[in-house]
Amino acid sequence: MGEFKGGFASFLVLAFFLSFNIVLLVHCQLLPIVSDGGENTSQIQTYIVHVLKPEGSKFLGAEDLERWHKSFLPNSTLDTGEPRLLYSYKEAISGFAARLTPEEVRGMEKMDGFLRANPSKRLQVQTTYTHKLLNLSTLFGAWSTSNSFYGEGIIIGVVDTGIHLPHPSFADTGMPPLPRGWNASCNLPRGSCNGKVIGAQSFKLGNTTNPPTDIDQGHGTHVAGIAAGNFVDNADVLRLAPGRASGMAPKAYISVYKVCWKDIGCGMDDIIAGIDQAILDGVHILQMSFGANPPDLPTSLDEDEVAVATYSAMQKGIFPCTTAGNSGPDPKTLGHAAPWDMVVGATTTDRRIRTTVTLGNGKQFHGESAYQPNTITNQFFPLAYPGSNGQLDQLFCLNNSLNGFNVKGKIVMCVAEVIDDIEKGGFVRNAGGVGMILLNFDISGFTIFSNAHHLPVSHVSYKDAMQIKDYFISNSAPTAKITFGGTIFGIHPTPALASFSSRGPAKYNRNILKPDVTAPGVNILSAWPVDVGPFPSNLKQKTFNFLSGTSMAAPHVSGIVALIMSKLKNDNKRIWSTSEIQSALITTANPFDLDGKPIFDEATLNDSANILQRGAGQVNATNAMDPGLVYNIEPDDYVAYLCGVYSNNSQDVQIFTQDNTQCTKSIPGKRLNYPSIGIGMKSRSSRTTIKRTVTNVGDAREIYSATFIEPPFVRIFLSHYQLSFTRLEQQITYRITFTMNGSHPGSGVIGQGQLSWVSNKHTVTSPIYIAF
Ligand SMILES: *[C@@H]1O[C@H](CO)[C@@H](O)[C@H](O)[C@H]1NC(C)=O
Ligand SMILES: *[C@@H]1O[C@H](CO)[C@@H](O)[C@H](O)[C@H]1NC(C)=O
Ligand SMILES: *[C@@H]1O[C@H](CO)[C@@H](O)[C@H](O)[C@H]1NC(C)=O
Ligand SMILES: *[C@@H]1O[C@H](CO)[C@@H](O)[C@H](O)[C@H]1NC(C)=O
Ligand SMILES: *[C@@H]1O[C@H](CO)[C@@H](O)[C@H](O)[C@H]1NC(C)=O
Ligand SMILES: *[C@@H]1O[C@H](CO)[C@@H](O)[C@H](O)[C@H]1NC(C)=O
Ligand SMILES: *[C@@H]1O[C@H](CO)[C@@H](O)[C@H](O)[C@H]1NC(C)=O
Ligand SMILES: *[C@@H]1O[C@H](CO)[C@@H](O)[C@H](O)[C@H]1NC(C)=O
Ligand SMILES: *[C@@H]1O[C@H](CO)[C@@H](O)[C@H](O)[C@H]1NC(C)=O
Ligand SMILES: *[C@@H]1O[C@H](CO)[C@@H](O)[C@H](O)[C@H]1NC(C)=O
Repeated sequence: MGEFKGGFASFLVLAFFLSFNIVLLVHCQLLPIVSDGGENTSQIQTYIVHVLKPEGSKFLGAEDLERWHKSFLPNSTLDTGEPRLLYSYKEAISGFAARLTPEEVRGMEKMDGFLRANPSKRLQVQTTYTHKLLNLSTLFGAWSTSNSFYGEGIIIGVVDTGIHLPHPSFADTGMPPLPRGWNASCNLPRGSCNGKVIGAQSFKLGNTTNPPTDIDQGHGTHVAGIAAGNFVDNADVLRLAPGRASGMAPKAYISVYKVCWKDIGCGMDDIIAGIDQAILDGVHILQMSFGANPPDLPTSLDEDEVAVATYSAMQKGIFPCTTAGNSGPDPKTLGHAAPWDMVVGATTTDRRIRTTVTLGNGKQFHGESAYQPNTITNQFFPLAYPGSNGQLDQLFCLNNSLNGFNVKGKIVMCVAEVIDDIEKGGFVRNAGGVGMILLNFDISGFTIFSNAHHLPVSHVSYKDAMQIKDYFISNSAPTAKITFGGTIFGIHPTPALASFSSRGPAKYNRNILKPDVTAPGVNILSAWPVDVGPFPSNLKQKTFNFLSGTSMAAPHVSGIVALIMSKLKNDNKRIWSTSEIQSALITTANPFDLDGKPIFDEATLNDSANILQRGAGQVNATNAMDPGLVYNIEPDDYVAYLCGVYSNNSQDVQIFTQDNTQCTKSIPGKRLNYPSIGIGMKSRSSRTTIKRTVTNVGDAREIYSATFIEPPFVRIFLSHYQLSFTRLEQQITYRITFTMNGSHPGSGVIGQGQLSWVSNKHTVTSPIYIAF
C-alpha cells in the first residue's frame, strides 16, 4: 500500500494517533468506585464470577441460586452503599457479577465451587464514526424466490442500545398473536410494547429500571430495523435512496435487551444479564452488534465472555449472531471467534449517494454524501488544506483546530474519521468553510460513507485523495466545486469487503475459520430515532439514516436466520440445530462478486479479499434456505473441542457446560464437524486426514459429486467422490486427506481452496484454509 505524500502525516504517525485514542477510550471504561475511608475501595471493580452449581441443584429456584451466589461474597458492605451483587445469572452462565477488590477475589478462589473470576470488560457497538445504509430486496431476493413467511413466528432478541418504538418500522401492522407462553417484561415508557416489539428490558450496572428507549444513540433502532423492520413506504434519507424500506424478516417479532449506554458503553456484566434474560424469555435468535476493539481483543475463548453465554444459548437452540468487528484491515482483529457464534464481516452494496468533486484543472472524482441541497451553485471555490502542515489536529479538522486558518468561503480538505465526520463538517462550517472534501487515509482505501452532513461534502477514496492532494500542492491557487449526483445503483465491484471489516485469523482456535461470512454493512439505510442533516427538528417519527459497520452486517444474517427458521416451522419440518443453520449460511455463501470475480478488498488498491478476510464470502439468503446438505455439530463434539482447547482441564470446560463435565475425549478444532475447514501444514511431510459428516435436508434421493480447488502446494484425496442419498435426514461421513505436493511454500503463508458437493439442485461448498 502507498502512503500519504507531501503534507500528509505518515501512516505510522496516524497509527500512533489512532491507538492513543483507543487507549484513552479503554481507560474510561474501567469503573473504579472511589470512596473515602474504609478499605481501599479504589480497587473495586465489577467481576464476572463463574461458579459451579451446588450439588443436586437441578431445580433450584431463583432465590436459592442468588443465596448460593451471595455465599461467595465478602460480608463487608461497600462504603458507597452500593450492593455487592449486580446480577445473579440463571441461564447464560453459572455465576454472578459483583463489585469486588482483587484481594477479595483471591480470597474467593479457595472456596468450594469457585471456577474463575474475570474483570467485567467494556465492549463497543460496532459502527464506524459515521451515520450511513441498503437495498435488501434487490440484494437478496429471498422473499420472492421462496416461500419464507417473512420470518413469521420467530423472535429476534436484539441485545443493543434499546429501541425507538414510535418508528413505523416497529408498528404492529397485523402481527400474529403473541407466541404461546411468551411473558417478557416491557419497561418502555407507559409500559406498552406492541405486537411487533414484544419485550423491552434494560440492564445497567445491576439496575433494570431504566427505560430501554433509544433516542440518544439510535444504534439499536437501526440494527433492529435491518433484522426485522416492517415494510415502510416512502423511506429515504434527506430524500435520497427513496423507496420501500424493510428489514430482512419483516414479520419476525423483536424483543429488546438494552445493555449498551451512551455514557458507559456495553459492560460485560450487563451484556450477560441481557443474554440471560433473552434465554429465559425464549428468543430464537440473539442479535449482538458489539465487540471489543484493539488493544482489548480476546486472546482466548473464555476471555470473550460473550462466547461463554452464547454457548449456553446455542445448547438451547438459540442462534447467536455477532460482528467480526470494525478494526480492519489489520489481520487478527476479530472481536468474536467462538465456533458456535456466527461471525459476520461487512461489505458494500451497489448503491452510492453520489457527490462529485471537480478540481480547477477539470479533473473529476466521485465521492458520497447524503446531504445534497438543491441550491446547487455551479461555482468554484478556493481550496484550503489546513493539515498540509502535517499537524494531526488540522489534518483531521478537530474542534478549534481551524482557528488561525483562513478557510472562509473555501472548500476545506480534511482527513476522514478519528472523530465523527458529521461533527467535523460542523467545525468546518463554523469556521466559515463552504464545503468539505473528506479524504480517506491509506488503510481506509475505497470505503466511503454517505453521511447526512451539515454542509456540502464529498467523501473520497484514498486513491482519489492522493490525486486531489497532489493537485492542491502543485497549484498556487487551487480551486474546486462539489456537485450532487443523487442515488446511483449498479456500482461495480459489488459486493466488496469494507476496509474497516475485522479480519482473521482469530488470536485463538486458528483451525476454525472466522469470520464465517460477509453481509452488507456500508451505508445501510434503516430506522433512526431523530431527524438528520443540517436542520433537524427531532420531530419526525419516520426518519431513516445511513450507518456503516459490521454492526449493520450481523443483523442481515439474523434476519436471514429468522427466514430459515420460519420456513422450516411453517413447512412442518424439523428445526435445524444452530450449527446446521450456520452450515446452511456458510456452505451457500459466495466468494465471488456479482461479476464473478473474487470479492475485492477495499483496503487495497487492487487485491481480492482472502479467506481469512471474507470467510466463505457473501451470505446468500435464497441459497441458505435450501442448502441441500448440512454439517451438524453434536453437543458432545463441542465438549470434546473444549477439552482440546483447555488441554483436558475439566474445570475450564465446566465454565461453559455449567455442570461437572469431565474430559474423557478431546478433539482439535479441525476435527469439529464445522462446515469450513482449517488445517496446519507446517512441513514438507505434513499429512492430515479429517472426517466430515453431512445430513441430507434436500430431496430424499439426491446424488452429489465432489469438485474441489486444491490450495497451492497441497493435494486433496477423498474417501468418497460421490455421495448418494436415498432418504431425508440420512447422514454420510467422508474423509479428506491433505498431503503436500513436493515442496513447502514457507512458514506463515496462507493457502486457500474449497471442496464442493454438487448435485443437479444444490452446491454445498466448504472453504479450505491452510496455515503453512
Ligand atoms: C489503593 O489502590 C490504589 C490503586 O491500586 C493505589 O494507588 C493506592 O496506593 C492504594 N491506597 C492504599 C491506601 O492502599
Ligand atoms: C459471613 O458471615 C457468616 C456469618 O457471620 C459466616 O458464616 C461466613 O463465613 C462469612 N463469610 C465470609 C466470606 O466471610
Ligand atoms: C444467490 O444465489 C442465486 C443462485 O445461485 C443467484 O441467482 C443470486 O444472484 C445470488 N444472490 C446474491 C445476492 O448473490
Ligand atoms: C410472567 O412474568 C411475571 C414477572 O415478570 C411473573 O410474575 C408471572 O408469574 C409470569 N407469568 C407466567 C404465566 O409465567
Ligand atoms: C436505577 O436507575 C433509575 C433511573 O436512572 C434510578 O432512578 C434508580 O434510583 C436506580 N436504582 C438503583 C437501585 O440504583
Ligand atoms: C431498491 O432497488 C430497487 C431496484 O434497484 C429500487 O427500485 C428501489 O427503490 C430500491 N429501494 C430502496 C429502499 O432503496
Ligand atoms: C468545540 O470547542 C468549543 C470551544 O472550546 C466548545 O464550546 C464546544 O463544545 C466544542 N464542540 C464540540 C462538539 O466538542
Ligand atoms: C495492482 O496495482 C499495482 C500498482 O498500480 C500494479 O503494479 C499491479 O500490477 C496491480 N496488480 C494487479 C493484480 O492488478
Ligand atoms: C485428553 O485426554 C484424552 C483421553 O484421556 C487423550 O486422548 C488426549 O490426548 C488428551 N488431550 C490433551 C490435549 O491433553
Ligand atoms: C504438484 O506438483 C507437480 C510438480 O511440481 C505439479 O506439476 C502439479 O501441478 C502440482 N499439483 C498441484 C495440485 O499443485
